[in-house]
Amino acid sequence: MNKIGMFFGTETGTTRLIAKKLQKLIGADIADKPVNVNRIAAEEFLQYDALILGTPSYGVGDIPGLSAGCLERNWEEFLAILGTPDLTGKRIAMFGLGAQERYSDRFASSLMALYKVFEGLGAEMIGDWSAADYTFEHSASVVDGRFVGLVIDQRTQGMYTDQRLKDWAEQIRPQLLQKLEQAA
Ligand SMILES: Cc1cc2nc3c(=O)[nH]c(=O)nc-3n(C[C@H](O)[C@H](O)[C@H](O)COP(=O)(O)O)c2cc1C
Repeated sequence: MNKIGMFFGTETGTTRLIAKKLQKLIGADIADKPVNVNRIAAEEFLQYDALILGTPSYGVGDIPGLSAGCLERNWEEFLAILGTPDLTGKRIAMFGLGAQERYSDRFASSLMALYKVFEGLGAEMIGDWSAADYTFEHSASVVDGRFVGLVIDQRTQGMYTDQRLKDWAEQIRPQLLQKLEQAA
């Protein structure tokens, strides 16, 4: 597929909103419309070589889904459908949502749980992001001072969201475009 695939899980719609903003920033000509993982088949996901994936945080750093207390189907249920395909050759950038004040001890931690799944399936993971401008006690999603993907907190840092999205889109866009060119 010669476009970037965009998929998200959501419980209350915030991750969808962020995915839509990102699609606009990356460009609708190169990034497909973001789709909720609660209504896709594995093939729809697997057709892409370059992907942007978004997840909220629920549970204690769990993959969002019914086991983590979500009412809607989310990444947990999609991963069961996806199985364990070899994702070698695919390039994936991830973003995660969380609330650093309320969930300071496990801020945006679900991002890491999902990141590890795709990394474990062989995908090349890109898009890490400095954790310096956030205030929290602990996040499972930090490695050496950087989140493994973009982290957005609409609850306490919504005023930074648009700039963060713009900067991150500029960071990942050339790397994802390069993948599309290689695959073409
Ligand atoms: C029950 C519940 C549990 C949550 N757990 C966490 C958490 O562990 N860590 C965190 O950073 N945010 C947590 N959040 C905040 C959500 O991840 C955040 O509000 C996110 O934007 C929701 O995205 P969504 O609207 O796409 O579902 C939680 C929110 C709720 C309501």
